Amino acid sequence: MNNENFALASEIAKLLADEAEAIEGYYAIMPKIMDKADQDILKEIISDEKNHAMLLEKMMLKYDSNIAMAAD
Ligand SMILES: [Fe+2]
Repeated sequence: MNNENFALASEIAKLLADEAEAIEGYYAIMPKIMDKADQDILKEIISDEKNHAMLLEKMMLKYDSNIAMAAD
């Protein structure tokens, strides 16, 4: 295993966790936001954060080792 790549994958995993924490924070304030337009903005932000999380997950799995991900 390439330790340098594994360390990089670990850093990316932390960034992925940050995205999940951000999403949790947006969901937490959602019930307190009564304005429909602002609710829609929060939903758009959550959607963007999910995309970031997906991209980071792919990147993390790419760098974690030399073993490719199974196709099934
Ligand atoms: Fe993000």
